[in-house]
Amino acid sequence: MRFIIDTEENIAKLAAQRYVQLLGKQPDAVLGFATGSTPLGLYGELARLCEAGEVSFRNVTSFNLDEYAGLDGSHDQSYRYFMDKNLFEKIDIDRSRTFVPSGLDIAAAADYDKAIEAAGGIELQLLGIGNNGHIGFNEPGTPFESLTHLVELTESTRQANARFFSSIDEVPTQSVTMGIRTVMNARSIMLMALGKGKAEIVRKSFTGPVTPEVPASVLQLHPFVEVYLDYEAASLL
Ligand code: F6R
Repeated sequence: MRFIIDTEENIAKLAAQRYVQLLGKQPDAVLGFATGSTPLGLYGELARLCEAGEVSFRNVTSFNLDEYAGLDGSHDQSYRYFMDKNLFEKIDIDRSRTFVPSGLDIAAAADYDKAIEAAGGIELQLLGIGNNGHIGFNEPGTPFESLTHLVELTESTRQANARFFSSIDEVPTQSVTMGIRTVMNARSIMLMALGKGKAEIVRKSFTGPVTPEVPASVLQLHPFVEVYLDYEAASLL
């Protein structure tokens, strides 16, 4: 596990360079993307680099981590909508090769891992981390062997995400997420965390015991993980 610690601005730039290098060598790489506020700087930087002709996503296939159950991709709080607005519409990716779990066809979750495998497996999976250590929407207690599945969101996750909705009542109670095994199947993983609020869970996840009670701790068992942190998120390491 490698730690990259810098300012928030530099973290976005350094993380973006990882994509430039990867796609320079492997233009048709399969990428795993995440939503949330953490990757926004990175996505802005990727859009800028693509516009400048320094990176191309033309031959990339992508799979997103998760989607709220019950939300159609046109809903402005759906993760499909988030990806379209914050990344896909700003880069040269072929939208028909961008995949986000369906929030409406829940039975299709069972086929998501097969689709990833059929595409050749994920080369680089991007992750954020929840305050409770969740990765994707795999909340504490999720078995490490889980594949893409429907989950009940914890109250703490619903509250953390309520900032994007007009009230907590509108935050969905379930989501479809890649499982922990799905994430661990990626050949390399990049986890990003920003801000003081993530410092304690970063410490627990990477210096504490590996346990399903702290889902991100499983990453200690993966052979190729890079953790991109700003100084605040790294402050308790
Ligand atoms: C997003 C996701 C979540 C977030 C996590 C952190 O697709 O799967 O695990 O990465 O909740 O969210 P932010 O970045 O908003 O702090």
